[in-house]
Amino acid sequence: MKNFKRTLITSALPYANGPVHIGHLAGVYVPADIYARYLRLKGEEVAFIGGSDEHGVPITLKAKKEGITPQDVVDKYHGMIKASFEKFGISFDIYSRTSSKIHHETASEIFKTLYDKGAFIEQTSDQFFDQEANQFLADRYITGTCPRCNFEKAYGDQCESCGSTLNATDLIDPKSVLSGNKPVMKETKHWFLPLDQYEPWLREWILECHKEWKPNVYGQCKSWIDGGLNPRAVTRDLDWGIPVPVPGSEGKVLYVWFDAPIGYISATKEWSSGWEKWWKDPETKMVHFIGKDNIVFHCIIFPVVLKAEGSFILPENVPANEFLNLEGDKISTSRNWAVWLHEYLEDFPGKEDVLKYTLTANAPETKDNDFTWKDFQTRNNSELVAIFGNFVNRALVLTDKYYNGEVPTPGELTEYDKNTLSEIATLKTLVEKSIETYHFREALKNAMDMARLGNKYLADMEPWKVVKTDPERVKTIMNTALQITANLTIVFEPFLPFTTEKLRGFMNLDKFGWQELGRTDLVTAGHKINTPELLFEKIEDEAIQAQVDKLLATKKTNELEQAKVNPAKNNIEYEDFAKLDIRIGTIIAAEKVSKTRKLLKLTIDTGIDKRTVVSGIAEYFEPDKIIGQQVSILINLAPKILKGIESQGMILMAENPDGSLVFVTPPLKTKEGSEVR
Ligand code: 2FM
Ligand code: ZN
Repeated sequence: MKNFKRTLITSALPYANGPVHIGHLAGVYVPADIYARYLRLKGEEVAFIGGSDEHGVPITLKAKKEGITPQDVVDKYHGMIKASFEKFGISFDIYSRTSSKIHHETASEIFKTLYDKGAFIEQTSDQFFDQEANQFLADRYITGTCPRCNFEKAYGDQCESCGSTLNATDLIDPKSVLSGNKPVMKETKHWFLPLDQYEPWLREWILECHKEWKPNVYGQCKSWIDGGLNPRAVTRDLDWGIPVPVPGSEGKVLYVWFDAPIGYISATKEWSSGWEKWWKDPETKMVHFIGKDNIVFHCIIFPVVLKAEGSFILPENVPANEFLNLEGDKISTSRNWAVWLHEYLEDFPGKEDVLKYTLTANAPETKDNDFTWKDFQTRNNSELVAIFGNFVNRALVLTDKYYNGEVPTPGELTEYDKNTLSEIATLKTLVEKSIETYHFREALKNAMDMARLGNKYLADMEPWKVVKTDPERVKTIMNTALQITANLTIVFEPFLPFTTEKLRGFMNLDKFGWQELGRTDLVTAGHKINTPELLFEKIEDEAIQAQVDKLLATKKTNELEQAKVNPAKNNIEYEDFAKLDIRIGTIIAAEKVSKTRKLLKLTIDTGIDKRTVVSGIAEYFEPDKIIGQQVSILINLAPKILKGIESQGMILMAENPDGSLVFVTPPLKTKEGSEVR
């Protein structure tokens, strides 16, 4: 194995169009943080880089939906994401953002270098264009039916149902997100990265030289390479992003997936003036932590950019995780099906490590996994409280009780004591091996085995019984238990940093380095510990039920949404209803309102008078087919001018889930002017 001098850890930049959820944490940030903390504890030189991904169509769409600017959107979520990572204790050396000046400059420069080297192909091609919005439709501005799985709401760049990466032109029955219209094809020029030219190199670099990559990562790369790589556009027609820094590129920006990974470089620059050693010295080991949907970008496209540029190192490993589901369903920002980090931090203050523990113990390392609140409770109550907490509590409370908090001098160790203590070093080796091969779940289990070891030791030794017959022996037992406890402050440091800090406080110890792990003299006789408190507390059913109820409410809202049936409005008084004067009337004339798609001008016999109503039903009814149609009409609605015509009232329509309209008509012919009440 190659010897490196330092490790550069990058973690996928989350889109700043929503808060961070447990899926992001389990897939990327928790494992990256464990890795960074472990290496630092070993005294290694580490840079742990993060930041927000602030470009791309999802952000412009969100801005449009909320009636604010894309900058407003990213400012809001960048602030929120950064603050919740900090509270949760993700130990980034820097958490930056891609709307920053330094990033714009860095990404432009790299694009320009590649351009000057002739690394791009310039190609004019037909792209979807929305004539009503007068705009090219990039990626998520297009939806349609997925050609692979028939999901009807696939995006122009990806199907969220089957996970396929798509081109907008692959979609069946494409529609513009802006107007809902069928887009037309229009010519536009873009710059493409000729991935096909790098195929032999990628084959060698990944398939031959990185056979050690996780099977899911290696497998995806292999299938991309074997499937044949095509040139990939790295620019877009869009007004949000980094302007393409070459002549003849007005109205075009860098593709978000071109600039986002460069964000790792610009963040490193922002963090340290000595950034080049992190990116250009072959003795730096670079590891990208990402989710499985990012594999192609980090293993194929970004490495090709780095290679084409020529002066940068390549990733040594890309330990991508699979997805975490929530209570059996795919996590989804748009359906609000998630446990949001900022909400968790509010609902479970002081329990950051419980979530870290659960997400690591159940990490989706080799396959998709499920997070359930029940499992979260069990992990806390039956593992953290019942094993780790119970052991530590017994060790500390008995020391307090028997020796007034002073570590006792041990007598001669029995074989059992010695075996127990030597097990610590064995577990240390296992944890190291697991972390260094990115098996964090296994590593946590190995660490937990150390707490189990302590728990079993005390249960077997029963000092609370022995104290009555052989108080000298108890000193050895308690000293041994305290050595195990001190080792726990080290072995759990990468995984549960708040807990180890608390435990060091209880034990009145400073922080040890990883190399001290395994020592059986970490606490010396006579050392005074503090009055013990509980390391973990039980989580009661009510707290779990509250979370489950929250999800059930979301599910209900989503079901209604799906059925397009709006939830009932708030109750009103009869007097409010009685203000409406609704009558039966008959349409006696109808014509289209010129230059509009939706409006008809109707003349209605209300029994009281014959009046004009402008109604938005033209998409569903031909004017000459509705003469004689009986309708319900609200006659005391204040008149309003629509397209220059005074509309005197409103006819009532029922709307089907697909948007089609039906008249609200009495089943038998009814005299005009009859009141509806
Ligand atoms: O999938 C995502 O959420 C992307 N924003 C990840 C970007 S990772 C890197 F390239 F910046
Ligand atoms: Zn699909």
